[in-house]
Amino acid sequence: MNDMRLQESRSLLRVFTCGSVDDGKSTLIGRLLFDTDNVPDDQRTALLWDSKRYGTNGTEVDYALLVDGLEAEREQGITIDVAYRFVATRRRKFIIADTPGHEQYTRNMATGASNAEVAVLLIDATQGLQPQTRRHAAIADLLGIRTIVLAINKIDLICYSQSRFMEIASMFHDFAAKFHFSSITPIPLSARHGDNVVWRSANMPWYDGPTILEHLESIEPERAEVGPFRLPVQWVNRPDASFRGYAGTIASGTVRPGDSVVISGSGRVTKVARIVAADGDRNTARAGDAVTLTIADAIDISRGDVIASSDSRPEVADQFAADLIWMDAADLLPGRPYLFRIGTATVSGVVSRIKHKLDIDHLEHLAADRLSLNEIGAVNVALASPVSFDPYEANRRMGAFIVIDRVTNTTAGAGMIRFPLRRANNIHRQAVTIRSTDRVARNRHRPAILWFTGLSGAGKSTIANLLEARLHAAGAHTYLLDGDNIRHGLNRDLGFTDADRVENIRRVAEVAKLFADAGLIVLVSFISPFRAERQMARELVEPGIFHEVFVDTPIEVCRSRDPKGLYRKADAGQIRNFTGIDSAYESPEDPEFWLRTVDSAPEALVDSLYGELAPAIGLEDSP
Ligand code: ADX
Repeated sequence: MNDMRLQESRSLLRVFTCGSVDDGKSTLIGRLLFDTDNVPDDQRTALLWDSKRYGTNGTEVDYALLVDGLEAEREQGITIDVAYRFVATRRRKFIIADTPGHEQYTRNMATGASNAEVAVLLIDATQGLQPQTRRHAAIADLLGIRTIVLAINKIDLICYSQSRFMEIASMFHDFAAKFHFSSITPIPLSARHGDNVVWRSANMPWYDGPTILEHLESIEPERAEVGPFRLPVQWVNRPDASFRGYAGTIASGTVRPGDSVVISGSGRVTKVARIVAADGDRNTARAGDAVTLTIADAIDISRGDVIASSDSRPEVADQFAADLIWMDAADLLPGRPYLFRIGTATVSGVVSRIKHKLDIDHLEHLAADRLSLNEIGAVNVALASPVSFDPYEANRRMGAFIVIDRVTNTTAGAGMIRFPLRRANNIHRQAVTIRSTDRVARNRHRPAILWFTGLSGAGKSTIANLLEARLHAAGAHTYLLDGDNIRHGLNRDLGFTDADRVENIRRVAEVAKLFADAGLIVLVSFISPFRAERQMARELVEPGIFHEVFVDTPIEVCRSRDPKGLYRKADAGQIRNFTGIDSAYESPEDPEFWLRTVDSAPEALVDSLYGELAPAIGLEDSP
């Protein structure tokens, strides 16, 4: 009974370990598990056997075997980014996040460290500070870890030398001065022999500090319930007309019925009426609890809103500055649309600017127009609509976000919000009297954007040109935006790198949107090779306005036509980044119109295109 109570009161500490395999990370974790009796009997026996057969330490026990499954699974092709080990002692429970050591360290660290309170940085005493140590420290800092344990391992191999230990510790102190760590505790240890892991070592009489376990047991876990109350709404629970509750997991703070709260989206203030949990009504709830709240007033609240303390409100903005860790093989390009998930809100947006990227080895800022896999940058983000957040520094749960690739749906990046950008509040939209609907009423058709995409030489311009003439003859108001022409004016400053093409399409999509708002039928003829930007152009306007027209001509046919002689030059290596040759073209998957130019003449294609389009936009032939 006593034991039960003791167990329940033990607090939980989240620890993240970093260091490469050779630093002895696996051995240290194995040792901690073993010496704290957290290894089941059968595994203990197996370990003793395996150590004899596979161990690297001769006849000694190889503790690394307890945790090296992770590397082994990886070799078998099973992707595991982070493994969590549980260690329980009489005083504390620990979750130890452990990641494979080598490549992808940034990504794995970001995953493993995102909610850790302590980072154990392993250093091989025989090697001293390594570039890897510096990188890990920099990332831990970025991720908001403030408590660092410097596990200076393999101290036995340097004859338990105090001076060497002091030297490494002081080098790290100097190097870490520019970070925001609030405590750095160096501990000399030998994971292999167990010195200062769980048991105090007799080999270092000069050291009177704690063992690593004692130290970890003494660290106070962060208390998220201390911060201001935040509940990101996950879903609206409405079983019948009489009940409307807002469900989610409390990100920080505590809440009681009667508390005054603000609904972040609308800015309206109300009171908490009830706190409903799985086991009935409660009179208080705190960070980490999954609850449903009801409120005193009828206010429209939806998923993605945050219910927050009205005394200490979260930021609400559609632009913010952030640090971003890029985890995707495809580069991050400014201006390219992605989904941003912040709390329970998912919003479309772009990185509007990369201010610099971080050279993690030298901690220098480098100019950059993109971020590649594992790179870290300081960026500005612009979202399609405002979201609620707190700066990461103040609240890790409310200030973290992930970036999702819109085409592959994978997590492409992880970010930490630093501060909102006020500019968004100072640029207002001017109200205008004549609206799009007024202009439509004058015309004899609805506006439309016909977005022609396809390889260079596919026939986009020819077909768009014929269609425009046909529409014009029918009395429609049209405008043709053609890549070759726009690149002589508005987009004169852009070339053909991926980044420039993204910007090219972003601008022309905005122009097309304005022209459609003016009531025109806009014909856009650009290679527009990437799905993400075509999708962005589509989403800029109301549904039904954007029509994707895939001018589908195989590259061999384009090459043999070669109207501008460009394929010949590209094949001869005189033009770089040529679409279809050394730059990608992502075919539309589900275009409104799919024109196969090898089967039909342009006139026939335009006939059928016109035949479908005219009724769709309410256009009748002129009498
Ligand atoms: S896009 O990819 O950014 O949409 P855009 O349609 O504006 O391209 O311009 C394509 C035109 O530029 C081609 O039709 C061709 O005449 C010319 N061009 C010059 N260099 C290239 C290149 N490297 N890749 C593709 N087109 C090029």
